Amino acid sequence: MAKAAAVLYACSECGYSTGKWLGRCPGCGGWSTLLEERASAAAAKKDSRPLLRLVDVEAADAERIPTGVPELDRVLGGGLVPASLVLVSGDPGIGKSTLLLMALRAMSGARKVVLVTGEESAAQVKLRADRLGGGEGVHVLAETELDAVCATLERERPDVCVVDSVQTLYSPELGSAPGSVAQVREAAGRLLRVAKEHRVAVFVVGHVTKEGAVAGPRVLEHLVDCVLHFEGDRYRAHRVLRAVKNRFGSTNEIGVFEMTGAGLVGIEDPSELFGRVEEAQPGSALACALEGTRPLLLEVQALVSPSDLAMPRRVATGVDPKRLSMIVAVLGRHAGIALGQADVFVNVAGGVRVDEPGADLAVALAIASAARRVPLATGLAVFGEIGLTGRLRAAAQAERRLAECAKMGLAQVVAPEGTPAHERIRVTAAATVRQAIDAGLDASGSSEG
Ligand SMILES: Nc1ncnc2c1ncn2[C@@H]1O[C@H](COP(=O)(O)OP(=O)(O)OP(=O)(O)O)[C@@H](O)[C@H]1O
Ligand SMILES: [Mg+2]
Repeated sequence: MAKAAAVLYACSECGYSTGKWLGRCPGCGGWSTLLEERASAAAAKKDSRPLLRLVDVEAADAERIPTGVPELDRVLGGGLVPASLVLVSGDPGIGKSTLLLMALRAMSGARKVVLVTGEESAAQVKLRADRLGGGEGVHVLAETELDAVCATLERERPDVCVVDSVQTLYSPELGSAPGSVAQVREAAGRLLRVAKEHRVAVFVVGHVTKEGAVAGPRVLEHLVDCVLHFEGDRYRAHRVLRAVKNRFGSTNEIGVFEMTGAGLVGIEDPSELFGRVEEAQPGSALACALEGTRPLLLEVQALVSPSDLAMPRRVATGVDPKRLSMIVAVLGRHAGIALGQADVFVNVAGGVRVDEPGADLAVALAIASAARRVPLATGLAVFGEIGLTGRLRAAAQAERRLAECAKMGLAQVVAPEGTPAHERIRVTAAATVRQAIDAGLDASGSSEG
């Protein structure tokens, strides 16, 4: 007597699964997120397997495949690891397909590469390739059926494969629509198996939801080796690629690109792009933040305006809102800048996002400068982490930051105590936020307004 396939309900947000339908997911608390999926009834035969001692494992796997796009290599941690599965996510139209086609094109000279396209026809891919300057060596498979895609990859065994996108892959056995939780999870699982067993490095493109999370179950992010997020302002030309997760490298590295008619152009010197301030204005401060191993100059802007609201607004773009609230509180308590009756807006120019605590001091100085309507000196950069007591904490890799400031022709830096001296830059050490503000605002030569 054949047993009917068990029905499971899985949460589309967190992947929690249960045997009966519930209105609210016990895993993440989301409402109406449980969707039906059919578990496969085939019970696997359980054979035992021999164990392997780590000493016997061949570690020639350390080799990396250069993708031909230096900024992508940097974010991957020095190139693509063979047999790895990399998820590339990002807003619609940000340039995911362009980036990956550029990498495929560059790799196609020395390796076998395949582009599985479910979103665009082969002709559309060809048009894009022409715009990027060719790509004759790239094999294209316009297919959405998962079994066919996996069978082709197993037969062809390319070195690198791009699947654009995982949401279009479809396995008819599952019975749910393409892009549903069960389908996406199945597709990612099968691609993972192909990647590991047949040593194909696979990039999968994943769409993001309105909130910016990868559409489909969170399990997708756990499953893959790397999650890269491609972000940026769609209305401006530059894009930032960052690693959200990387099993083979740091997650702090970023790659910066500019979208041009001929594709994405890597920007080696992003400080030039984001840190150019022609004339000092109140509410603007230059941060020297560290993204991975790379120091980056960023302009932080603040606007402080009187508010009638019972709870004045704290709006952060490019900075963590919790961090902003903390800095506003520290400024009120320890630096005599009361902002209880004011809306505070902070924006990192150029649509970049900084998570690094070393940028705290720039946020604080931008707000202080806006509140007092006094500009900071031209050619002044700041860095340092702010503690809840109002003291500054030394920022990591101060020498590299100073070197970047010197390279960009800046003359003065306000930094936490303990920052080493620099031959070309006047380093003003500050122990507290209050001292840093005094040093930064005094340096402009104006008195408090
Ligand atoms: N001729 C062109 N000149 C400059 N930029 C272009 C040109 N053609 C396309 N673009 C840029 O490429 C972007 C689309 O890139 P792409 O198709 O790689 O994005 P995507 O992230 O794959 O989008 P989707 O989510 O729709 O798959 C457009 O938003 C546009 O900025
Ligand atoms: Mg695309």
